[in-house]
Amino acid sequence: MAEKSTYYITTPIYYPSANLHVGHTYCTVMADAMARFKRLRGYDVMFLTGTDEHGQKIQQIAEEVGDTPKEYVDRVVADIKELWSVMEISYDDFIRTTEDRHKRRVQEIFRKIYEAGDIYRGVYEGWYCTPCESFWTDTQLRNAKCPDCGREVVRAKEDAYFFKLSAYADRLLALYEEHPEFLEPETRRNEMTRFIKQGLEDLCISRSSFDWGIEVPIEEGQVIYVWLDALSNYITALGWPTVDGTPGEHDKYDKYWPADVHLVGKEIVRFHSIIWPAMLMSLGYPLPKKVLGHGWLLLDGGKLSKSKLAEAGQDKARRNIVDPVELIERYGVDALKYFLLREYTFGQDGQFTTETMLQRVNSDLANDLGNLLSRTTGMNDKYFGGVIERPVALFADGPITSAETAVDVAVDARDGELIALALGAAAKVERHMDSFEFNRALETIWELISRSNKYIDETEPWTLAKTDGDRERLGQVLYNLAESLRIVSVLIQPYLHWSSEKIREQLGLDSGAVVWGDAQVFGLEAAYRTAKGENLFPRIDIEKEFASIAEG
Ligand code: MSP
Repeated sequence: MAEKSTYYITTPIYYPSANLHVGHTYCTVMADAMARFKRLRGYDVMFLTGTDEHGQKIQQIAEEVGDTPKEYVDRVVADIKELWSVMEISYDDFIRTTEDRHKRRVQEIFRKIYEAGDIYRGVYEGWYCTPCESFWTDTQLRNAKCPDCGREVVRAKEDAYFFKLSAYADRLLALYEEHPEFLEPETRRNEMTRFIKQGLEDLCISRSSFDWGIEVPIEEGQVIYVWLDALSNYITALGWPTVDGTPGEHDKYDKYWPADVHLVGKEIVRFHSIIWPAMLMSLGYPLPKKVLGHGWLLLDGGKLSKSKLAEAGQDKARRNIVDPVELIERYGVDALKYFLLREYTFGQDGQFTTETMLQRVNSDLANDLGNLLSRTTGMNDKYFGGVIERPVALFADGPITSAETAVDVAVDARDGELIALALGAAAKVERHMDSFEFNRALETIWELISRSNKYIDETEPWTLAKTDGDRERLGQVLYNLAESLRIVSVLIQPYLHWSSEKIREQLGLDSGAVVWGDAQVFGLEAAYRTAKGENLFPRIDIEKEFASIAEG
């Protein structure tokens, strides 16, 4: 049997300096949707996430609260894992940079780059931004502050090791030129090209002024720079480079590397598209196929971040909830996931407000999807006791698989239109997912949902129910609606796992047996046994909600 194609997707590994806010969940929700989508499409998927636990900032924060760095990160990492579990994030591995499997391999990576002649000892003199863990030269600073985050930088002068990054400038430019797909969107690629052309400096890759890090293997008293440590996670988690020699140690590396995509926020594209490929070039390992930079969620026009929240002095009457746990407790996991995937355009920044989220939930989830399900199951229960057979008239030759056939065989033009739209949706979703257009993939599915609701309004099942002679037609209409919802339940499965299951339960379908190809067949179920259940997305009274948020 042919081996399944593999798909390796990663998120950045998050700093456990504080609990995550909704901005952080954005990337992980997209990665999860893509991983689930690829699994559903038959790929053997490896989805990696984790935490980036070393560095001066974490050490400082831990000291401030009187913890050891390890005690501190253990607590925050437990919360992060709990958050991902509540959000049903389907990662295959979670790597912590404090784990032995990672530390030993990072030391091996350092040693190999050193042996390749790309690391030398020198003195670092320049500026350091502790929150970003970034080094800057005088000319790179903006108004004497960190050019990335605008915060204070500190003067640093230390004996340190350097990586010969400057030697890789031409190879990096050639990489972007020959493989433009390596770095997207294009705006980021242009930005990085300009950055490299301004002149790449060698990179300081060790620190001696604090000790919360992985020790440099060739000298005591130095720890490895956190970005070198962190970027390595994408291969150390796969068991590479080998340090144990245990059987199967690098099986995952053989199987999944190079990664198909590193999904990262725009401010860390620089590390992933310059430092990381240069490290891999020095090591002689294959490069990832793609680095994809997404935009930020903004609050009041600035990047949503802990410090932003503190200074924003939020409007009490319309407080924005940015704690994902609170958002989920109030509105459910799928409401948050749907909003993040539907509202924002990949690569661009977008404003975050709780109000916009609630409006989306009301219009798309409560009104469109929730109503379609409750109307369909409700009418089915009422008119047919929940049991409805596949209408022979429409499906005399069995299930329909093409839009053309649907239009040909349909007894009513509106049936043909609905069925054709349902059958075409999967291919459109595939195309949008190929280019990471999560919002357009969902839009496509919602076109089907809206068309189905319109189909109810057009066919008026309640009118058909009044006449005995229209009973057969009533059955056809309700069967078509159930089929349409079944297809919706397959299509939304990667994004709204919980809703997909609930819809399938109410339709009387097996929730564990979702197969992508089933979305390309209309007339699949010989019969339905539906049962109207809980309202998936009760409508939220936004004014009352804000009053309750203000109290809470
Ligand atoms: N630890 C590094 C990543 C190392 S990867 C080898 C790091 N951590 S972070 O916790 O500061 O950020 C992790 C990710 O969260 C980044 O991709 C960042 O862009 C993303 N986000 C943080 N705030 C965000 C928003 N407001 N909106 C969208 N994404 C945001 O950087």
